[in-house]
Amino acid sequence: MTTLEPVKVGICGLGTVGSGTFNVLMRNADEIARRAGRPLVVEQVGARRDNPDCDLTGINITRDVFEVARNPEIDVVVELIGGYDVARQLVLEAIDNGKHVVTANKALIAVHGNEIFQAAAEKGVIVAFEAAVAGGIPVIKSLREGLGGNKIQWLAGIINGTGNFILTHMSEDGRDFDDVLAEAQALGYAEADPTFDVEGIDAAHKLTILASIAYGVPLQFEKAYTEGISQITSEDIEQADNLGYTIKHLGISCRTEEGIELRVHPTLLPKQRLLANVHGVKNAIEIMGDAVGPTLYYGAGAGAEPTASAVVADLLDVARDMATEHKYRTPYLAFSGINEQGEAAPQVLPMENIVTAYYLRLQAVDRPGVLARVASILSEQGISIEALIQKEATEGELVPIIMMTHRTRESSMNEAIRQLEALADVAGSVTRIRVENLDDNA
Ligand code: HSE
Repeated sequence: MTTLEPVKVGICGLGTVGSGTFNVLMRNADEIARRAGRPLVVEQVGARRDNPDCDLTGINITRDVFEVARNPEIDVVVELIGGYDVARQLVLEAIDNGKHVVTANKALIAVHGNEIFQAAAEKGVIVAFEAAVAGGIPVIKSLREGLGGNKIQWLAGIINGTGNFILTHMSEDGRDFDDVLAEAQALGYAEADPTFDVEGIDAAHKLTILASIAYGVPLQFEKAYTEGISQITSEDIEQADNLGYTIKHLGISCRTEEGIELRVHPTLLPKQRLLANVHGVKNAIEIMGDAVGPTLYYGAGAGAEPTASAVVADLLDVARDMATEHKYRTPYLAFSGINEQGEAAPQVLPMENIVTAYYLRLQAVDRPGVLARVASILSEQGISIEALIQKEATEGELVPIIMMTHRTRESSMNEAIRQLEALADVAGSVTRIRVENLDDNA
């Protein structure tokens, strides 16, 4: 039995996620009301056009999303229009009008989140964004609530379904990058601009948000190191496979003594790791807490109803939190760089400072002394080789040399690669893919 007034929801945007959210709210209305202790009612929908997937009979529709942000009847504005500028204006206006906000917009939160949270904190309203990271996987709630007693040591995830779909099919079917990307676009997985998926920008948005929640630091998208998968070749996938590794596009954030690593790049992962076995368009995030140890979250990272599942869960949180003290409604982030204890919050490390292992592939002339020169450059930089493969070749011709190294500092590897590429015996550039074993202490 419900005793509280209904929560009145305004949905802005009726595309894939908007229509999914509308339909889940309608279909599961009784279940949702039972969990919230009050009904959640769609008071208004703001969308440029209707969506044939939704039965909008009796729903108040406007073509102007800002009308929703100004509607005095509405308690919560759900921003599902995507993009940066209009979405930012809409969210800030909704906050200014005292409305709670739920959004699935990772670009908006990663880039404008500090400003938005600050505005929400001043107004005492909630901004919830579970759907912004990994679609239907409740990873933000897991970090904030389920793992709330832990110091988070690191997290690593496959947080872009399109990229994982491409690498999976390149690996399983031996297909080319462009061919699989075209299929991912035809299936509707890719972002409007596929460079966001394949160059790691979408994953960096999501990683930025996860790291902020995990470590309580400001959102610092501009400091994330971002490298895409467009340079990965079938040869690298095959060589990695021979060495016992799978190439995955990972978002990785570690807390170290020196600061916080924030990086998205292709990564060799030992084949037996669960993350290495996340295939197709699925997402998964592994999180290491000091108390719980490693935990893994897996599921659909995109799609209408999986993402709606996260949006509606946020609406439930808002409905419950509306009855609580507003100072607890927004996550505490050290906006000023000073944490709640008055100490400097940890800084995001420059990429040169990170420590990891590497896979290297280079083309060298097969003649006496070449391997010695390559090994000597690595040794001078304090880099230890873990495995080395040189294919058979005719003397004097180019031959691929593949190496795996032990963990070393990125700056040492940059210098080693610079020297390797300057060798007369080495042709073209050196391919470098970072390797993560994700050991418990990594
Ligand atoms: N383009 C994104 C992906 C959709 O492929 O994961 C969800 O953010």
